[in-house]
Amino acid sequence: MNILITGGSGVIGECLVREALARGHETSFTYHSRPSPIGNAQPIRLSLEEPARLAESLSSCKPDVLIHSAAFTNVDGCETEQEKARIQNAQASGELAKFAKSRGALFIYISTSFVFPKRDHAVREDEEPAPVNYYGQSKLDGELALRAVGGEWQIWRTDQPYGWVPPGQKQNTVTRTLSLLKEGKEVREVEDWWNNPTYLPDFAAAGFALIEKRAQGIYHLVGSSYATRADWARATASAFGYNPALILTKRAGDMRLPAARPNVNADNSKVQKETGVRMRTIEEALRDMRADPRAVEFVSKGK
Ligand SMILES: NC(=O)c1ccc[n+]([C@@H]2O[C@H](COP(=O)([O-])OP(=O)(O)OC[C@H]3O[C@@H](n4cnc5c(N)ncnc54)[C@H](OP(=O)(O)O)[C@@H]3O)[C@@H](O)[C@H]2O)c1
Repeated sequence: MNILITGGSGVIGECLVREALARGHETSFTYHSRPSPIGNAQPIRLSLEEPARLAESLSSCKPDVLIHSAAFTNVDGCETEQEKARIQNAQASGELAKFAKSRGALFIYISTSFVFPKRDHAVREDEEPAPVNYYGQSKLDGELALRAVGGEWQIWRTDQPYGWVPPGQKQNTVTRTLSLLKEGKEVREVEDWWNNPTYLPDFAAAGFALIEKRAQGIYHLVGSSYATRADWARATASAFGYNPALILTKRAGDMRLPAARPNVNADNSKVQKETGVRMRTIEEALRDMRADPRAVEFVSKGK
């Protein structure tokens, strides 16, 4: 298949570009400010700032599948720059969906569990969204924009993607915690932000299974643990031989950030049932990371 991935220079996008190449697909990707090569995938510069010009920028592309991962991803930035978030996350998504439809391509939109508020149960795909911050609102508006266009589409909602990432890529709670522990520095994590941390290899496996099935609709591609950032960091410390008591805590309110965090627990049973891919817990994923050759430099010297 010919696969085009927007935001290929980002954490999720790069993971998907590598997965597409590993599966033998003809792959191209877009970047905005960071034009790093990824294997033999073709890089294309794209800006979400002028949605009306997106189709022109991609005029040479004839994808069978367009995965739209590029976005204004800074949650607090979206709160303070709402017009920018509206254009880049909502309006641009509608324009890209039109482009995909004009090419007869399956359009896949990477969304977020932040479209929901906290609920007293694990939230299913068909429940009514109600974002608590503008990032969530702009991503929800992107979902609605592509659904209004029609054509073939999938929405993959995710949360806190993590795993070993290539040098130069944005770090995640696990790699950041390990880097600090290795250097003997203080690790302080938030004790009242809850997430479903999502192991990138599972995200990619489940996503490509959905593509191969040519599934339609919304899927929660999230990990199977619901944990605080502090608990996640403690589990990371334990898995790599450090004392979990080294993880100190802070409260979200002390950081005085512009955007509220929703503490959503998303139900991932639909994607697991339909693809057979298990979305691992934090402990399972950490064991997998620990078994990777890249773990060697991060294991506690005491072990
Ligand atoms: N990370 C999370 O916790 C999380 C959770 C749920 C959902 N998501 C969603 O997953 C997707 C990917 O997130 P990520 O974590 O991989 O993000 P990321 O690492 O911040 O990457 C963002 C990507 O978007 C591109 N981009 C940013 N501004 C752009 C612009 N004005 N025009 C064109 N491209 C632009 C970036 O290009 P350059 O780097 O080249 O500038 C990069 O490729 C997003 O849609 C996000 O909303 C992320």
